[in-house]
Amino acid sequence: MFDLTGRVAFVTGSGQGMGAGVALALAQHGAVVGVNDLFEDRAAATVEAIERAGARAVVATADVRDRAAVDAAIGVTETAFGPVDVLVHNAGIPTDGFPLARFRDLDPSNWERWMGVNYTGMLNTAKRVIDGMCEQRFGRIIFVSSEAGRTGMGMGVACYGAAKAATMQFCRHLAIETARDGVTVNCIALGRMSANIVTSELVRAMPAVGRFGSPADVAAACVYLASTEAGFVTGQTLGVNGGSVTS
Ligand SMILES: NC(=O)c1ccc[n+]([C@@H]2O[C@H](COP(=O)([O-])OP(=O)(O)OC[C@H]3O[C@@H](n4cnc5c(N)ncnc54)[C@H](O)[C@@H]3O)[C@@H](O)[C@H]2O)c1
Repeated sequence: MFDLTGRVAFVTGSGQGMGAGVALALAQHGAVVGVNDLFEDRAAATVEAIERAGARAVVATADVRDRAAVDAAIGVTETAFGPVDVLVHNAGIPTDGFPLARFRDLDPSNWERWMGVNYTGMLNTAKRVIDGMCEQRFGRIIFVSSEAGRTGMGMGVACYGAAKAATMQFCRHLAIETARDGVTVNCIALGRMSANIVTSELVRAMPAVGRFGSPADVAAACVYLASTEAGFVTGQTLGVNGGSVTS
């Protein structure tokens, strides 16, 4: 089960963190991977890790906010490996920081930073692959979202959460639009993960399972949703959150 041999995946923001874990896991399950990141050296490090694991990947640098750059990066992937079957839009935290601030204290200059990476990046990547997926009658689209997008929190993530909510609602509509074309579209809502934003005092509360999440937790969910076996699952948001939010 969950054999991805022959699949071509494109993973945004996979130069480190959750995305790097996702790219490696997809490759370990048989996919070839376009490793996207804003930073070429980060993407190259993930490609090296994949190649060390005996699989194949290509550096596909782009800022996901830039549609032409996204088109070119997916073009690099398709030139190397063929049409993209699996899109994971994981980039979501702007590289210029993550100011946790309640809305009253947040400067308006920060408003756009989350929408650009999460929302515009999602549209740019999905737009580039959707026609090909529908024509080949197979596609798997996964948006890495956050529980901040579906529940209120007091930790200063209102604008980030609103951008993440947009990914989940876009997912529901796109899933219905493409359901008869063999394309599934799903979201993964992450909880508190063992990465940069957990360092804030505001997000130290432990999930119910008693540990923070890891890239491997995210990767396992992506491998499942990318698989042929997940063909009856679409338009859903899967919480990968250690029980911190139940639904
Ligand atoms: N870490 C958490 O606790 C947590 C919690 C909930 C959701 N998430 C979500 O998980 C995803 C991954 O988070 P992470 O913790 O691994 O982040 P991270 O910051 O460790 O890694 C993200 C990668 O994305 C790249 N990136 C940033 N902006 C980009 C852009 N414009 N174009 C292309 N690449 C870009 C960065 O260079 C970086 O390598 C994000 O969507 C985030 O919102 C994370």
